[in-house]
Amino acid sequence: MANAVKNARRFLGELLYERRYRVQTNGNIILDAHDAENIFYIAMNWRQLRRALPPRSVTRQDVFLDIGSGMGRAVLTAAAEYPFARVIGVELCRELHEVAQRNLATTRRRLRCRDVELVCADVRDYRIPDDVTVIFINNSIRGSLFTGMLTDLSASMKRNPRTVRLIYGNPLEEDALLASGEWRKVRTVMARRSRSTWPYGATCVYETTGAQAQAEGQQAATPRATA
Ligand SMILES: C[S@@+](CC[C@H](N)C(=O)[O-])C[C@H]1O[C@@H](n2cnc3c(N)ncnc32)[C@H](O)[C@@H]1O
Repeated sequence: MANAVKNARRFLGELLYERRYRVQTNGNIILDAHDAENIFYIAMNWRQLRRALPPRSVTRQDVFLDIGSGMGRAVLTAAAEYPFARVIGVELCRELHEVAQRNLATTRRRLRCRDVELVCADVRDYRIPDDVTVIFINNSIRGSLFTGMLTDLSASMKRNPRTVRLIYGNPLEEDALLASGEWRKVRTVMARRSRSTWPYGATCVYETTGAQAQAEGQQAATPRATA
């Protein structure tokens, strides 16, 4: 009974969201490209981003990147509700990317940030732009894809030192993230009424200034004194 009520509430919330933005983002979709590291499509809870990332913490200098943007729910929410300078979504599957493009076309005029870019690519082949300051990952990639993304971000932060926040839903790779020594956990938000066990139902916010990567870069650049 409790589950039925929870499901009905979720369905209603999503219906309201879809109506409000006149988009189609709902679904639970597994395609051929999805496997243990490339995680299938399921849209974020429409309140998830706002609860983890208060709009007042974002400025016009911030740039948002959703890794695994699917049908674009997080991208549209970021562009509609925050003053981001630009918003980017990277999605592996063309089918989902094309739905996101249609969703963007119907809503673009109503968005607060109109500089929205949707890229159809495997994150493995995508270089994180050097101005990105907020990354959203709703458990879209795992294993070597996740650590590869961290390496790519480190390189970007060496080129352009800055603070980057990671908003991570169902943070299954938290150990790998914290083991890098670069990140500190700032906040954990649990889904309301969720009975899931950690890390499911959690969205965590992590932050890095890239200090360690920069120190390593400086060390490598400094010639050693010879005896
Ligand atoms: C859980 S869904 C998240 C959807 C969206 N970010 C949201 O929160 O509404 C994960 C998405 O990541 C995409 N994905 C999986 N592996 C990927 C990869 N290697 N590169 C880019 N996207 C990937 C999937 O196709 C899927 O759309």
